[in-house]
Amino acid sequence: MKKLKISYVIVSLGLLTACSQDGSNSSKKNMNGMDHSSMKMGEMDHSTMKNEEMDHSTMNMSHESTAELQSSLGKNELTLPKVLKPDQEDTNNVSYTIRAQQGKAEILDGTKTATYGYNGNFLGPIIRVKKGINVKIHLINDLNEETTFHWHGLEVPGYADGGPHKVLKPGETETIHFTVQQNAATLWFHPHPMHKTGKQVFMGLAGLLYIDDSHSEQLNIPKTYGENDFPLILQDKTFTADKQLDYEKVMNEDGTTGDTLLINGVVNPKLTVNRTSVRLRILNGSNMRNYKLRFDNGMDFQQIASDGGFLNKPNASKEIEVAPSERVELIVDFSKIKGDKVALVNEDGTTILPIHIIEKKKISNTADVLNNLSISDKVKNAKISKKIKLTGMGKDVTINGKKFDPNRIDFTQKQNETEVWEIENLKDSMGGMKHPFHIHGTQFQVISIDGKEPPANLSGLKDTITLEPGQKAKLAVTFTQKGTYMFHCHILEHEDNGMMGQIKVN
Ligand code: C2O
Ligand code: CU
Ligand code: CU
Repeated sequence: MKKLKISYVIVSLGLLTACSQDGSNSSKKNMNGMDHSSMKMGEMDHSTMKNEEMDHSTMNMSHESTAELQSSLGKNELTLPKVLKPDQEDTNNVSYTIRAQQGKAEILDGTKTATYGYNGNFLGPIIRVKKGINVKIHLINDLNEETTFHWHGLEVPGYADGGPHKVLKPGETETIHFTVQQNAATLWFHPHPMHKTGKQVFMGLAGLLYIDDSHSEQLNIPKTYGENDFPLILQDKTFTADKQLDYEKVMNEDGTTGDTLLINGVVNPKLTVNRTSVRLRILNGSNMRNYKLRFDNGMDFQQIASDGGFLNKPNASKEIEVAPSERVELIVDFSKIKGDKVALVNEDGTTILPIHIIEKKKISNTADVLNNLSISDKVKNAKISKKIKLTGMGKDVTINGKKFDPNRIDFTQKQNETEVWEIENLKDSMGGMKHPFHIHGTQFQVISIDGKEPPANLSGLKDTITLEPGQKAKLAVTFTQKGTYMFHCHILEHEDNGMMGQIKVN
């Protein structure tokens, strides 16, 4: 404990110095939300520390801090991404163009911020496709740097997956084809170039991809986009004094956090809803921040979906954790609320989204059967065939002791064969940290966490699972397509630091 304390002091002092240089006034917290900036140097006691401990804490001294998130003041009505119009479309085929580009967006009052976006200045549109359709996407890199186009959560052939091998140089284009074979889900897309993912996402490259199917279209749930079905892309950023995004300046090897929350790119957002049931499709598009969301009046809500689609039945809950890259879909019954205000808040009480309820009462029910997922006993009892150990912090992060090597295939697996993967987040002498572990090209199921059945919120299809230090999970993993896919920690700076491996499916 003593050495932790000391590293926090060093961090706080270091950050305070850095802050006064760039004029920003954000105070910093460690991951437990404790504010150590008031600690005095005198509380440090070097004499009791062994040399190796000192080295370790010095090495990791910048990895213990998280920028304190400011509450949304609710000044700006949330804007929603546009649903992208196809270039061409018939019953079985659809084609789109996605362009990564630089731009300027007025995010903060009165000043334009230099940003990246897809088909626009900042963030991207929603690509909305139906199960069964053949999709063609024309990709254009209009940035001044290399990028890739990755479809997070989508079961596409490896060549179309947009991992770090599929770099498009500035000005280059490519056309990919795939057939949508999975069920309704809220997925997303973002860049994946080596060592640059953190920066490019931070600058604004992220968009949603919705899959609909005949089941989701018939299901009795809120599903009118912009009326009772809203996407919420949560991202925290730090702006410089001149209201710009300067990734290099704020980058933290253990995950970049910001003091300013944006939802769908809007600062100080608020949402106006009718007094009825509303669906919130939440994507944590942050570089590393984890959210534990609840309503400030303590009311419950129904979680209906996780990363890869619907849960078997709505899961009533008062609080839900969303790790980087994860999606959760909630149905919130605002007709239960007395008064006209409620707020979505984070674990520590920070206001994420003030919600204003207007008087148009509509009664709506939510289907109580949503899906019929199961894991066969055969799979449950099958031997573990792949073991993954997550370790380290900062630049020392590894998977099974190794850093990503584009020329090394770590595992192979047969298409359409389910294997049991064991993912373990190892504790280290500093305690370790949470890692959101993600696999490309698949939606897996969680068999167990530390030998126990997963909680209801993790009982559906997932492409990312967050493990606490010391936790171990068993996953049932099936790839429906062939190719080479990444698996990695979705703290983007860990990914950029090589906490990534690859599997070849044939
Ligand atoms: Cu969101 Cu490698 O992915
Ligand atoms: Cu992915
Ligand atoms: Cu990590």
